[in-house]
Amino acid sequence: MGAFLQEHCTQAVDWIWSRATGAGLKEKPRVGLILGSGLGGLVAGATPAVVIPYTEIPRFPRSTVAGHTGRLIIGRIAGTSIVAMQGRVHFYEGYDIDQVVFPIRVMGALGVSQLIITNAAGGINTSFAPGDLMAITGHINLMSVDPLRGSSVAPGEKYVSNPYCPELLRITTQASVGLGLSLREGVYAAYMGPSYETPAEIRFLRNMGADAVGMSTAPEALVAAALGIPVLGISCITNMAAGVLEKRLCHSEVMEVADQVAERFSKLLGAVLARMDK
Ligand code: HPA
Repeated sequence: MGAFLQEHCTQAVDWIWSRATGAGLKEKPRVGLILGSGLGGLVAGATPAVVIPYTEIPRFPRSTVAGHTGRLIIGRIAGTSIVAMQGRVHFYEGYDIDQVVFPIRVMGALGVSQLIITNAAGGINTSFAPGDLMAITGHINLMSVDPLRGSSVAPGEKYVSNPYCPELLRITTQASVGLGLSLREGVYAAYMGPSYETPAEIRFLRNMGADAVGMSTAPEALVAAALGIPVLGISCITNMAAGVLEKRLCHSEVMEVADQVAERFSKLLGAVLARMDK
């Protein structure tokens, strides 16, 4: 990270921390969460919570997408101290990649030691159905951008080639079994967006070994990995990808299904948080 970015990050972290301590919070967050649309209910139960709109945080990017609220929440869920992003920014919104991953650098500087990334995704694997949850085992980054470009590390140095942590995957599977919820596993392909993929691109992605496709997560996971933060990624399959069904894709369907799944998704995340290292 360049000196300029480092300075912005320190500015944001100092501001957030003074707001949190001013509100009586003493504990540094251990787990970072990026919550996609519909998952606000999970953090509604956080205690004690400090809620900060992104617009108030110096240098923090603002989400422009419907369904992405744009608030940072610091508190405790299921006995684990967390900092949660309710809503994220995407590369397709026109931000520089440094801005897209800025919140991850901030979470890292706040002291998080594990990161949970959630997203909405289109199902490429034809055995999936809308409403399924998929734990990410690996990603294929097709966003034509690497957020680590220009950072002062040699290729491979301080860099984990697969950010998705097997141990976090294991506790997530255990949590899903404990709750009697079904959980898929698979590979997430990251597309730049904002256009949805064409049916031809989806056939190409399936042949490459992708199970789901979305427009986020890979940059955030790569930066977390470079910071030494293990990642758990969970996709909510909100629709079947283009061409799988004879149906047009639309963002309102994505949000509708995300809302329907939210309760089940929140339960799973709560059970995962309860099992994480305290
Ligand atoms: N494609 C890309 N991103 C998505 C999709 C999709 O089908 N559904 C939700 N996010």
